[in-house]
Amino acid sequence: MREKIQLYILLSVAVVTGALSATAAEPNLKEIMQGLRNDAVEIADGLFLDDFTRVEEAALRIANHDRIPPEQVQLVAMELGTEMPAFKQFDMSVHDLSLSIAAAAEAEDRDRAIANYQSMLSGCLACHAAYRVRVAAVLGGATAANDPGR
Ligand code: HEC
Repeated sequence: MREKIQLYILLSVAVVTGALSATAAEPNLKEIMQGLRNDAVEIADGLFLDDFTRVEEAALRIANHDRIPPEQVQLVAMELGTEMPAFKQFDMSVHDLSLSIAAAAEAEDRDRAIANYQSMLSGCLACHAAYRVRVAAVLGGATAANDPGR
């Protein structure tokens, strides 16, 4: 009987921690984007202060952002169809530019870091112009900053 209770407690703990780690490990696209935003602001702060370590670390966090959960990728692919490669291309381009920012920051090359930062922001905004509202709609996210639901 005691063993049974112990086993039950162990299993409950395993289930609860499993559920917690599943939510922690799998942010949705909107949460990923909020992280990108924070790191983009962090890069700007680093550039304003010539703090290259701060720039490099934030740029690497952007480069290594979590993957989009597979269920969400599927919904996006269904919505975008043949445009899916273009959507992925924006993601790749921002990824590559964030690595260039990190490399420039490591070399303490301010001009190159700034140029790459500006290109990266253009990449963020180009994807938003093309897809943000449309994709947010299929993922059930907010559609605009002035959406009263926010
Ligand atoms: C491949 C396309 C793509 C790229 C590249 C991209 N975004 Fe996004 N972003 C989206 C989509 C789609 C949404 C809407 C997600 C949702 O609402 O579910 C979004 C939403 C956001 C939001 C709003 C989150 C909210 O609270 O509603 C912010 C902030 C954001 N992105 C920042 C960034 C930054 C910063 C970058 C560049 C470092 C970036 N994004 C690059 C597609 C992209």
